[in-house]
Amino acid sequence: MSLKDVKGAVFEVAPLLMSKKESAMGSAFKISEVIKEKSGMKRLTLTDFRNYESLRLEFDICPIVMTGKNGSGKTNILEAVSFLSPGRGLRGAKMADIRRLNASQGLARGVLWAVSANVQKNDEDYVLSTAVQKSEKEGQNDVHSFERRTVLIDGQKATTQAELGKYFSAIWLTPQMDRIFLGGPQPRRSFLDRMVYAFDLEHAKRTATFEHLYKEWYRIIKSGRSDNLWLLGLEEQMAAVGVSIAAARRELVARLNTFTKNEPDDVFPDVMLALDGKIEQMLDENAAIDVEDFYKQNLYESRKNVFSGDGVEGVNKTDFKVFDKKKQMPAELCSTGEQKLLLISIILAQTKCQMLDKGFAPVLLLDEVTAHLDSIKRNALLEKIKELRLQAFITATDEQIFKTLKNEAQFFEVKSGVVSEKSGG
Ligand SMILES: Nc1ncnc2c1ncn2[C@@H]1O[C@H](COP(=O)(O)OP(=O)(O)O)[C@@H](O)[C@H]1O
Ligand SMILES: [Mg+2]
Repeated sequence: MSLKDVKGAVFEVAPLLMSKKESAMGSAFKISEVIKEKSGMKRLTLTDFRNYESLRLEFDICPIVMTGKNGSGKTNILEAVSFLSPGRGLRGAKMADIRRLNASQGLARGVLWAVSANVQKNDEDYVLSTAVQKSEKEGQNDVHSFERRTVLIDGQKATTQAELGKYFSAIWLTPQMDRIFLGGPQPRRSFLDRMVYAFDLEHAKRTATFEHLYKEWYRIIKSGRSDNLWLLGLEEQMAAVGVSIAAARRELVARLNTFTKNEPDDVFPDVMLALDGKIEQMLDENAAIDVEDFYKQNLYESRKNVFSGDGVEGVNKTDFKVFDKKKQMPAELCSTGEQKLLLISIILAQTKCQMLDKGFAPVLLLDEVTAHLDSIKRNALLEKIKELRLQAFITATDEQIFKTLKNEAQFFEVKSGVVSEKSGG
């Protein structure tokens, strides 16, 4: 099957890789029979995080509905949970902005804010925590300060943030993502890469390494120093890491496309995913080693583009394309509500694939997600969360719409930074 985007570019659905468990599925297949245990967060502790000086909440592994007026602190709680994944959280924030304004020196010296959680992964328990610290580095003439995020797993310092993914996984949908299909490709690429590293922990490191190499390469060219050998070395490394980034993205897209084809959802739209990127496309027909050579040569020839301001092609430019398969419509031409449904389809497919592939359930962070959904879709989403026995944090301003969850969910009310549990909804 092939589909066209707004610019008329044609995208093919490439049938590809799947794990054994995913390919063994029949239509009568029930994930809840394969994954018998629940996974999620049982306790969350925040210190000097946004509007919370200190907060401690206990959760069951079930839908968790948080209601409260705008600005009361609901999204901040979801953001805190998102910091138990690698990266900059669900708002893509600067580490220093998260520290509570007017915070006193309540924490250990230099610690700006901290999030800690007791999580359950099937029948195992772990304590995960992350804190941001202010550090200083002495330069030649000055001392500059920077923020460093550290991660502890059961009290032991983890070597990378990606380690968190072995014990806990969060998938989020936020109001900012409502416009994800409309603007430039950067937020779509981040969304894609986040999905990739949920399956492939190395991917977080790869994208960070590529970004670092690219900045260095760009900086040297821009400075006008003709350090040819150094640049060639960087180009070689960028090509190698770049090709592995492209390959991992292709695998993710193929995995989700195959899954949604075999297990189409009964309520949410069928999606087709594609990659619009030179390197990813070249891997369709060429061996990785040849693509790497091409990429290296292409970077060499693109040095001049850094000066002229023309872009440099490669994995840092790749776009993530989404189509409504039945309507044969690119997501960017769908209505706002339809776009939200496409996103829900994607995260549901990702959730199920992750359960099968990693053997444990991710936690869903659904910020104001019900706003665009009619009652049928809303109830269908809640049913799926229950059926998969997921922990899902759901924020809303109105609690009435969650009547159907009475006795099956935890209800919290957030009132200017004070969070209280309500019994029975
Ligand atoms: N670093 C910070 N220190 C203190 N308060 C903050 C900080 N960052 C954001 N806030 C405040 O947190 C409040 C709650 O935000 P949010 O969680 O987004 O509310 P909502 O319940 O609408 O999702 C806002 O009023 C915002 O001003
Ligand atoms: Mg909010």
